[in-house]
Amino acid sequence: MVERKPIIVGNWKMYKTISETRTTLSALRAAVQDVDSVEIGIAPPFTSLAAAAEVLSGSNISLAAQNMHYGDAGAFTGEVSAPMLLDAGVTHAILGHSERREYFGETDDLIASKVKAALENGIVPILCVGETQVQREADETVSVVTGQLSGALSELRGADLGTLVVAYEPIWAIGTGLTATPEQAQQVHEIIRDFIGDLLGGVVAERLRIQYGGSVKPDNAAELLAQLDIDGALVGGASLDSESLSAIVHAA
Ligand code: 13P
Repeated sequence: MVERKPIIVGNWKMYKTISETRTTLSALRAAVQDVDSVEIGIAPPFTSLAAAAEVLSGSNISLAAQNMHYGDAGAFTGEVSAPMLLDAGVTHAILGHSERREYFGETDDLIASKVKAALENGIVPILCVGETQVQREADETVSVVTGQLSGALSELRGADLGTLVVAYEPIWAIGTGLTATPEQAQQVHEIIRDFIGDLLGGVVAERLRIQYGGSVKPDNAAELLAQLDIDGALVGGASLDSESLSAIVHAA
């Protein structure tokens, strides 16, 4: 049985100025300084990356990007590349978040290119998948999630996927206060692991860390994280506050 280190990442989305970033991360750094059994990451907006890198230097908190372009450099107005992120101290990138799929038209093909570029550059890709409320009610959860996984990963068969992280984020649970029950989440996580096993082999599947995301809070984190196939959390709203994120880390 492979030991999977839990990974908790805070996705700040489009929140926090540079000075707010400094204040929150200084407090978070102090609150989790003794933790070494959990991998911790923060994905601030791009404008705060430099300040975050400074505050987190030498700490046990990694820096993540919320998005990334697949190219190294080029005429892509408004985009940021993997080498630029590495230069800024970033080690992880959230890719294919449902908000990017929904509001910015990201397709599985585009996300596949980003995952590939992240792996080639040594950035840990956090690939997000998840169904809408309508899809869940129509019993399409499994086909939607496995479709997103094969869309983003099938090109990578045989490549070194050792660092890949998948985040299962049911869209109906994001920012709504509605959390999947631990049983609902575990059921989909197990399906994800089995599907990755079929697609990429048992070794990749056993090592794969699968985060749950969607209204994770200090009071529901422990129960979710206790599930066999839940290896961490991707936290939105509750990560904006250092105390609540630290409580989630300690729950893990
Ligand atoms: P909330 O935790 O605010 O529901 O957001 C989840 C999310 O989208 C993390 O990426």
